[in-house]
Amino acid sequence: MKNIVILGSTGSIGVSALDVIKTLGPDYKVLAISAGRNGDLFLKQVLEFKPKYATVASQESYDKIKDLIPAEVKLLTPTPESLCELASLKEADLIINGLVGAAGFKPLMAAIKAGKVIALANKEPIVMAGSVIMQECQKYGATIVPVDSEPSAVFQSLENCDIHTYRQEAKNIKKVLLTASGGPFLKYKGNLDDVKPEQALAHPRWKMGKKITIDSATLMNKGFETIEIMHLFNLPLEKVKIVVHPQSIVHSAVEYEDGAIVAELSNPDMRLPIQYAITYPKRYPCPVKPLSILDMARLDFMEPDFSAFPCLSLAQHAAKKGGSFGAVLNGADEVCVEAFLKGQIKFTDIAKIISKVFSTHEADFKEKITLEDALSFDSWARQKAKEFIK
Ligand SMILES: NC(=O)c1ccc[n+]([C@@H]2O[C@H](COP(=O)([O-])OP(=O)(O)OC[C@H]3O[C@@H](n4cnc5c(N)ncnc54)[C@H](OP(=O)(O)O)[C@@H]3O)[C@@H](O)[C@H]2O)c1
Repeated sequence: MKNIVILGSTGSIGVSALDVIKTLGPDYKVLAISAGRNGDLFLKQVLEFKPKYATVASQESYDKIKDLIPAEVKLLTPTPESLCELASLKEADLIINGLVGAAGFKPLMAAIKAGKVIALANKEPIVMAGSVIMQECQKYGATIVPVDSEPSAVFQSLENCDIHTYRQEAKNIKKVLLTASGGPFLKYKGNLDDVKPEQALAHPRWKMGKKITIDSATLMNKGFETIEIMHLFNLPLEKVKIVVHPQSIVHSAVEYEDGAIVAELSNPDMRLPIQYAITYPKRYPCPVKPLSILDMARLDFMEPDFSAFPCLSLAQHAAKKGGSFGAVLNGADEVCVEAFLKGQIKFTDIAKIISKVFSTHEADFKEKITLEDALSFDSWARQKAKEFIK
């Protein structure tokens, strides 16, 4: 029996994770779930999965549902500490981190300090402080299993795919081919200055939360994944090559020294990498529609357009510099994405504002950061981005 904690159960990743667990049967048990503001869906999930522990971050949602929670479910107080408590539960065998943005940073650290196996979708903490997070994993005996489809594809394409040794294994890689769908504006003929949030939210291949969908439209998400893959697999930037692949069938590939390219192919549906992170090293039938290779018309691959999508270069700058730049990148990006969704800035302002925050940060750049530094650079970048938005 595997006892599973799902942080962010009401989000796109969380809902898919619950769906997978439901079909896997009694060997996989939902031990705890957490939500942010969506109290209605959270209550429905509590009633269906009857976890031992649950927490909802919003006080308003908590007040609305607290008397409707069954007695056998322990509802924790709506505080950030409760998320950390769930992330480090003694009985937990696997923590699925489906939180979004820097909100997942402290719970991830709590899971690492408790030496847990963490199925990680929430890439932003790795962008913020990947080097120190990987060191902490080693120190506390924690293990990160990738959930994000691209690092999961890299993991699955390794010669010996083992959750405890994959970082060492990856040194035999010549190159990672990190695939990108290209997002909704791949072939856009209009002016990107004029695009509206609804257009940017209409991703052609994936149904995801708003933040990652906007990051996919700017291609910042691909920059984040470059940094994520560098840290998870201990690879330099030069070994991660972004390739646009509009069909989203090849979820990334590994090129070896002899020229062989090994890839993972499937229909674009997060339930597959989520399930593999849960059942690893076993594979079971999955609710994802199987890929019919004979029906597959074609697979296209092309170079990304760095000039149309400047967020890619910004992320690569942060990847090259390392240190405090990751936290600055993520903090500024979170503020800009929110401002774009609220109609306060243009789509193209996202990269412009992050670039200004970067220029301001150059003088204070710190090469070696601690976890506390990452959080304070994150706050600084948010504040600076807000000043530039005004
Ligand atoms: N969606 C995908 O297909 C996909 C693919 C690869 C990687 N990822 C990564 O996975 C992570 C989650 O993405 P998503 O698309 O699932 O996001 P999402 O749909 O926005 O879900 C985020 C979850 O986190 C909760 N949450 C947000 N802020 C919180 C806070 N301050 N305190 C407590 N809970 C909070 C939300 O609760 P409420 O909804 O109740 O407010 C929700 O349950 C992101 O880092 C993303 O980059 C996602």
